[in-house]
Amino acid sequence: MSSVFDIPSEFKIDPYKCDKYLINGDLRKWEGKTSDVFSSISTKNKEGKTNPTFLGSVPDIDSSVALEAAEAAHKAYDRGKGVWPTMKVSQRIKCMEIFVEKMKIYRDEVALLLMWEICKNKSDSYKEFDRTVDYINDTIEAYKKLDRKGANFQHESGVLAHIRRGPLGVVLCLGPYNYPLNETFSLLIPAIIMGNTTVFKPAKQGILLITPLLDAFKESFPPGVVNILFGRGRDIAAPIMKTGIIDVLALIGHSSSAVALQDLHPNKNRLRLILGLEAKNPGIILSDADLDHTIQECISGTLSYNGQRCTALKILYVHESIVEEFNLRFSKAVDNLKFGMPWENTFLTPLPEPGKPDYIQGLIEDAENQGAQIINRKGGERLKNYSFPAVLYPVNDKMRLFHEEQFGPIIPIVSYSDINEPLNDMSKSNYGQQVSLFGSNVDEIGPLIDSLANLVCRVNLNSACQRGPDVYPFTGRKNSAVGTLSVFDALRSFSIRTFLAAKSNNINKEIIENLLDSKSSNFVTTEYLL
Ligand code: G3H
Repeated sequence: MSSVFDIPSEFKIDPYKCDKYLINGDLRKWEGKTSDVFSSISTKNKEGKTNPTFLGSVPDIDSSVALEAAEAAHKAYDRGKGVWPTMKVSQRIKCMEIFVEKMKIYRDEVALLLMWEICKNKSDSYKEFDRTVDYINDTIEAYKKLDRKGANFQHESGVLAHIRRGPLGVVLCLGPYNYPLNETFSLLIPAIIMGNTTVFKPAKQGILLITPLLDAFKESFPPGVVNILFGRGRDIAAPIMKTGIIDVLALIGHSSSAVALQDLHPNKNRLRLILGLEAKNPGIILSDADLDHTIQECISGTLSYNGQRCTALKILYVHESIVEEFNLRFSKAVDNLKFGMPWENTFLTPLPEPGKPDYIQGLIEDAENQGAQIINRKGGERLKNYSFPAVLYPVNDKMRLFHEEQFGPIIPIVSYSDINEPLNDMSKSNYGQQVSLFGSNVDEIGPLIDSLANLVCRVNLNSACQRGPDVYPFTGRKNSAVGTLSVFDALRSFSIRTFLAAKSNNINKEIIENLLDSKSSNFVTTEYLL
């Protein structure tokens, strides 16, 4: 493996010097400190020295500006009286349609930045962009359906009711580095369309790719609805939380950040949480599993995007009767994986976090000191920005690798004789997102699914864990999530049911009829959205 590459001209990148941020509909120029952004992929500079590639810079916004952004979102919401939260649903949808059209123009630019900033391979980078565009379009359709359901009156026990979903207030939106576009937008888009106003801070890595979209946000939404800041969490998110202005904390990342931010809010029971957090999804391989298929799914489950997915399979439990054969064939399959640069579209690509190879090495050493071995030939081979996937066996609960969410290319294998061993481990674990179950005997699988469904929120049968399709619920138990996201569920998560109720007498009936005829309310309407 080598770390210097001849880069084809279409993938060369000129540094992006972003000195703008979005507050209250203004793209303001930042005159203060900036942060340089580097790729972990090295290139040669003019003097012929190999260094991490300079990708550009972004504002390092301070807390006073962060507070201005929160104030702008607060003002735009205006205790629910603002233009955006009271706007007709059809008009909000129009704004979102304008945004998605403007966003599409930047497909190549954003995909190239995904390749350089977070080293995602070319096809997955484009997939992330396209999936996000689909997510926005599907959200628009889902909102129309939801709105149609509310376009009526109910009549119960002498009370007329017009029930809809309304916004919650000001949302602070923080996304992760592994899906800096898709996962962040899967929070931001439903939050905005439901009538909330937002402050959005991209992750530390995968930050430049948001900058081409600043104009699209500015031009598509009224002032203050979307405010975008660049900088450190402690300078931006922490002071904003302390104000108490935030009604919803929407975060995909680590539970430690989510807990620290919640703790800063002066009025916690007013704060709604929508969190996608860490996980340690197990793969359980029963004695009768079809090994060809299982190995294929375990490769994609453990190592797609180098295992840097919250849904990745992070520990494999293999029945003792087949563990030897599984280990042999799985290790060979891992060693056959190709490593290369994102634009070469290889399955394995460099790791974007500079400290990750050392962290992985630490996990390997800890496991080896306690009796595990690397069982694949290339496992743990190092580059400055990479560690080739290491398959470790036999792993046990004394090892860090058994408990920690590795979020990288290292795979622990545990052998079990009794199915209660993985079940007990799962019930003791702090996480409860998903599981993959490999096998075919329905007498064994049936009762197992019954238990597993109560330990996690998605049981994948003979299939790797994953978030998609995005219309399915994405959630978790214990420390793995708060709230549910899917195209439809996210609209619910970022809103609350609120309604007009009236004693069903002649006076009220007449008023309501006049209300509907006059179209003086955007909330009380029986218009059917096409
Ligand atoms: O990082 C967690 C993502 O939600 C995983 O999504 O299963 O589509 O890769 P995915």
